[in-house]
Amino acid sequence: MSDETARARAWEAAGRAAASLVRDGDRVGLGTGRAAAAGIRALGERVREGLRCTGVPTSPASAELAASLGIPLDRMRGPLAIAFDGADIVTPAGLAVKGAGGAMVRERIVGAAAGRFLVLIDDPKVGDTLDPWGVLPLAVIPFAADHVMDALAHLSPTRRPGRSDDALVLVDIRPPAGADWEALDREARAIGGVVDTGLFRLVPGDVLVGRPDGTVTSVDGVNAA
Ligand code: A5P
Repeated sequence: MSDETARARAWEAAGRAAASLVRDGDRVGLGTGRAAAAGIRALGERVREGLRCTGVPTSPASAELAASLGIPLDRMRGPLAIAFDGADIVTPAGLAVKGAGGAMVRERIVGAAAGRFLVLIDDPKVGDTLDPWGVLPLAVIPFAADHVMDALAHLSPTRRPGRSDDALVLVDIRPPAGADWEALDREARAIGGVVDTGLFRLVPGDVLVGRPDGTVTSVDGVNAA
């Protein structure tokens, strides 16, 4: 099995586990990226079998996928029963980086509104620290983009081309090995114009690690899903 196929199978396993936790009548936050797409496909399967739910997508890509599978959609408002999404790296304690796809602002809004925020990953995305990933994305209002990059020049900031779905500028900073990511996150958030970052504190029991053989456990190894 190729590495790509193995990873796709692992995300599918995590996606099925997440979709199985959706109950009839739930409003469901739909994340962005490959693992979230696997969850949306699994949810679409359940909808085809008769589950009634409403999806709140965090990106046009997720909206398009969900709609193509017959999942009814709504805009973001009020509480959500559950949400699922991907991540770029997660420690066993639940510290995580998201935002490689640039959707972390909407993803945080949806995750915070959800009674349960499930994050779907595979083994290569589990790290003892966040250092192996090495990048922390920031969402910045365009007016302040140069100002933020100047203030964080010691963290080798780079600006991604284009804008996010909310017309924000995305800036990637590079914490050095051994850095205190939470302190750097606070430093970045204190700069005017930084709307959000990709650093998340997750509930370890709700981070589902899928495997190519179809099994799923939580990132702290406590729960089997
Ligand atoms: C989108 O902005 C991100 O937060 C994604 O959820 C994250 O990058 C994981 O994406 P993949 O599941 O595609 O790796």
